[in-house]
Amino acid sequence: MKIVISLGGSLISLNKPDYIKNVADLIKKVSNDFELYVVVGGGKLARDYINTARNFCNDESYLDRIGILATRINALLLNSFFKKDIPETVDEVMDIKPPVIMGGTTPGHSTDAVSAMVARKVKAKRLIIATDVDGIYDKDPKKNKDAKKFDRIDIKELIKISGRTWKKAGESAVIDAIACSIIEEEGIPTLVLNGKNLKELENAIYGKKFNGTVVEIK
Ligand code: UTP
Repeated sequence: MKIVISLGGSLISLNKPDYIKNVADLIKKVSNDFELYVVVGGGKLARDYINTARNFCNDESYLDRIGILATRINALLLNSFFKKDIPETVDEVMDIKPPVIMGGTTPGHSTDAVSAMVARKVKAKRLIIATDVDGIYDKDPKKNKDAKKFDRIDIKELIKISGRTWKKAGESAVIDAIACSIIEEEGIPTLVLNGKNLKELENAIYGKKFNGTVVEIK
């Protein structure tokens, strides 16, 4: 059974090597039961580079390329435990035996979108978006104390919240608009959770009850 995980870049921090090791251990363990595809985000590294480059350059596609390299270096970091080839396109994913670890592909979307494209390509059973908040909220929980978490949300409602278009390099949404469209079109079962809690991630991988949000596709 194939499962795709979008591992938000905010989870990868150079001063938390234990977390990276624990993710690698989980990938190894779970790979006995599932074919895993892990798409790693760029996080602070991508944002810092993009924000600095934005002082000199307003070419969004160029800024995206900087972001993509940040996602790939984070993927390489996690891949230190596996030392496998890192696909640079969704097509290349098909040439590698899981577990597959990769970063971004081309400008114009985030690694959430890449994970949805990979899920479509490999016909994944589910897509898990592991981020740094406990699920999908009605507003940004980091900025609004009264934000309410959805246990379940219809994909159409989510699209209303996040909008239909890709914004700017480095700009974040709950799940990026391109990812939402693919999830809707392909009917990919999607779960959103806090990747800091690896027990919850493991529960979601195994299809058990987990703390987070289920995106419903009707
Ligand atoms: P991320 O996927 O980390 O984006 O890629 P994000 O939305 O900032 O991160 P999360 O979802 O909150 O963790 C970082 C940046 O790299 C570029 C984009 O500019 C993105 O904002 N990128 C990444 C691409 O252009 N294409 C890709 O395939 C991946």
